Amino acid sequence: MTHIVQPDALGITAAVEALRTGSVIGFPTETVYGLAADITNETALRNIFTVKHRPTDHPLIVHVADATQFAALATDVLPAAHALAEMCWPGPLTIIVRAGAQVNKIITGGRDTVAIRLPAHPVALAVIKQLGSPVAAPSANHFGRVSPTTAQHVLADLGDAVALVLDGGPCAIGVESTIVDCTLEQPQILRPGSITSDEIRHVLDRVGVNLAPGITGSSRAPGMLEHHYAPLARLILHEIDEIFDAAGTPILDCSVDPVQAAHSLYAQLRAFDEEGHQLVHVVLPVRRGMGFALRDRLSKAAARR
Ligand code: TXA
Ligand code: MG
Repeated sequence: MTHIVQPDALGITAAVEALRTGSVIGFPTETVYGLAADITNETALRNIFTVKHRPTDHPLIVHVADATQFAALATDVLPAAHALAEMCWPGPLTIIVRAGAQVNKIITGGRDTVAIRLPAHPVALAVIKQLGSPVAAPSANHFGRVSPTTAQHVLADLGDAVALVLDGGPCAIGVESTIVDCTLEQPQILRPGSITSDEIRHVLDRVGVNLAPGITGSSRAPGMLEHHYAPLARLILHEIDEIFDAAGTPILDCSVDPVQAAHSLYAQLRAFDEEGHQLVHVVLPVRRGMGFALRDRLSKAAARR
């Protein structure tokens, strides 16, 4: 039976042992919980796709513990990627770079690029360091469903398919990392997150590079489907100044404190489902700071299936 494990020395060792034998584990990061596999173990990498019911052409993010591990996975790294790594890591930023020849194609879905992130979470870092190898880790939920932000969410979603779940408490940020494609002359944000476009622009300025305008996704980042992050309840989205009649259905107001709203978003959506709500009204945050990431996840969660 799968256990939720405290992330003390014993717990970390048990997690690393499980990874060494090709199992997948749940572990906390500052964004959401990840489903981790040792990148040197092909069986474990394949396991991720089986456990998540994820199509194999949806590439994985590799989580590293230091700059040396980053350098070993990447090739032809442009100054923009170096600058972002230096300024934003450890942190909720995923950087896409050219993949070195040694990067397993299971991770990249056959692409010549790889997504890499150095998380700001002591438990994730301890696991990677003790394993001595980076781990591939998508969010620890079934494909297309709401990401987990507690160990209990991981267990509820994936159950015995994971060897164990390290419990780091609720994730501080609550939405997935910002993804920036740094293989382009003008880097581009593929997925908004808590590191904002203003912060990224600021870093890129230092190396004289422009950020491509807008936030894209669907073309180069498979996995960024129209519907994603989806609860069972239907969400109806409202702008802040819109007047609507909720008629007894719950209202999720994300406009007042978007950072707090992000922190509790996925737990809230799960709670609405558990309570059996068919319909939830959502007040959107304005397009500023965390507002972009929240609007992105909410519009995907609201898309018709
Ligand atoms: O915060 C996060 O990023 C969390 C935690 C666990 O670190 N992870 C996460 O992973 O959100 P996942 O697999 O749920 O989302 C990864 C996204 C996918 O949309 C995938 O398409 C994109 O990253 N991605 C990965 N490699 C890529 C590549 N080489 N080019 C373009 N997109 C890529
Ligand atoms: Mg995911």
